[in-house]
Amino acid sequence: MMKDKVVLYKKIPEQQKLLLSQMFNLICFDNIDESNLKQFIHEIKDAIGLIGSGVKLHQEILQHALNLKVISTISVGYDHFDLEYLKSRNIALMHTPDVLTDTTADTIFTLIMCSARRTTELNNFVTSGKWSNNLKDDYFGVDIHGKKLGILGMGRIGYAVAKRAHLGFDMQINYYNRSVNSKAEDNLNAQKMELDELLADSDFVCSILPANQQTDLLIGQREFELMKDSAIFINGGRGNVVDQNALAIALKNQTIRAAGLDVYEVEPLPQSSPLMKLKNITLFPHIGSATSETRVAMITCAIENLKAAYIGDLTKNCVVS
Ligand code: 8YV
Repeated sequence: MMKDKVVLYKKIPEQQKLLLSQMFNLICFDNIDESNLKQFIHEIKDAIGLIGSGVKLHQEILQHALNLKVISTISVGYDHFDLEYLKSRNIALMHTPDVLTDTTADTIFTLIMCSARRTTELNNFVTSGKWSNNLKDDYFGVDIHGKKLGILGMGRIGYAVAKRAHLGFDMQINYYNRSVNSKAEDNLNAQKMELDELLADSDFVCSILPANQQTDLLIGQREFELMKDSAIFINGGRGNVVDQNALAIALKNQTIRAAGLDVYEVEPLPQSSPLMKLKNITLFPHIGSATSETRVAMITCAIENLKAAYIGDLTKNCVVS
């Protein structure tokens, strides 16, 4: 009996591919770009499932997939999909929360520490042979412990960052969120605030917001001017939240002290970006969940999600159905 067809559109380890090909007629693409988009559209025509990440799969592409029942994205974020369209087609969308929470929180805290202690600049200072005697104070960083951390988006990853900050670095936690996070308030004495109050009161402002209409360009010139001039801005969520040009101006004019980014309006960040020329910024290439252990865990989770949805079990990790 011919197995149902699944199309994989991301490079994954061979042994994990086996877990899929045991159950499905598996067609594999390491990634999708202009060079193979046509072939991809041809292959999804009779597919019942897709699994992968990093590709915007909107109606223009999915309208060709007439038998599609489920998409399993190897990510917690789902801004690569048009949820209303998927709902209209009864296509289930599965995602991979929880398995990447701690790794992403580690990445975000690394950005906080690198930005505060200027690790990129100082690494370059040493490797360029400029370290000749005692460090002058114009290379000094700022403390992290005991400061106020303002978190935009107190979800799973926000809570994990707040836990590291409060329990590990005696930081006071301010947070901006649609709903109250009583666990953060009870366990970490976190204070819920309106956006402007948080921006004015926090030493570090850390966005972990998803990409959607409500968060689009939420942080721009006005918001940077509300922040302390000693403030450090971090973005570990999605790039659409920040007006990057306003950020570049705020950093150049020292409206705020520094920034650390892992996500951008356009990824990869173009060489022409004004952010590239700044000293007081730390730039990571969207490595939130990029550890060997967590990427394997995300793929395993996505495969289990696909198999569950295939037999009609949408009780876990289902975004829409
Ligand atoms: C993914 C992420 O690796 O899970 C997410 O939402 O941003 C990362 O963990 C990335 O989306 C892959 O494209």
